[in-house]
Amino acid sequence: MTNERKRRRLAYPGDCWSTLWENHNTLANADRRPDKRNLSQRIEESDSSKGKDMEDPKSWSVKDQELVKELVDFLGINEDDRQFLRQLHGIAATYSKPMVEEFSSRILQHPNTREYYEKIDVPSLQEKITGWFQDLFLGEYGAEYAEKAMRIGKAHVRIGLPLRYPLAMWDLLVKYGEQVVAHSPKPKEAFRAFHKVLALSIALFIQAYEDSQLAHLSQFLGSERLVRRLLMEGH
Ligand code: HEM
Repeated sequence: MTNERKRRRLAYPGDCWSTLWENHNTLANADRRPDKRNLSQRIEESDSSKGKDMEDPKSWSVKDQELVKELVDFLGINEDDRQFLRQLHGIAATYSKPMVEEFSSRILQHPNTREYYEKIDVPSLQEKITGWFQDLFLGEYGAEYAEKAMRIGKAHVRIGLPLRYPLAMWDLLVKYGEQVVAHSPKPKEAFRAFHKVLALSIALFIQAYEDSQLAHLSQFLGSERLVRRLLMEGH
């Protein structure tokens, strides 16, 4: 028995073993709790061992309004794309109804997704999803569009829906998008434009999940940068 253990044993004479056991657990848990200072130090040490001042990737600082601008640029969404899609906005309304029917029936057929639909007003949700599909053809993909897309993403974080399910709706959205763009005088170009905007929308959806995870972990660890660096170090 180490001196330290002997000392603690003496501090709990007689049959106070339960108190000692609690004390032991508290100490053991304290050891497991991440120490913010040590984590920062570990990261700094790791940086300097790589022999350079590690700069954070620039992408980490892109937030809010800048996000959608960056993604529109990244995807190369241009004025022609906006125009092709704008022309189809009215047509999209007709296809959004069968789209949302199939969307809901896929969710209801699978027990792991069905349970999310048990406590909600399904017709009202279907209306919102119809609107979301139509908005892909708005032709305006600025701050307002981004704010809405992120809010929708966050609604799914709040209900604890694993990200794989929204992503697994991709094929269905493409299927109905194809039917809409077939009405364009330039269907190939309109299809490419639709793909870009769908990718934009899904990217914002995913960003909402990442933001929420980073925000939660940052509360625990002190800063978003620390969380990001730790995730990198973990690999
Ligand atoms: C790309 C795929 C998806 C899109 C575009 C989408 C779209 C939407 C929209 C527009 C809303 C309304 C958000 C608001 O009130 O502002 C919503 C909420 C909701 N979605 Fe999705 N959704 C998707 C995937 C899924 C999947 C796979 C499920 C599976 C169960 C699901 C379940 C729900 C539920 C339960 C709500 C209500 C959340 C609440 O009560 O706040 N969604 N979704």
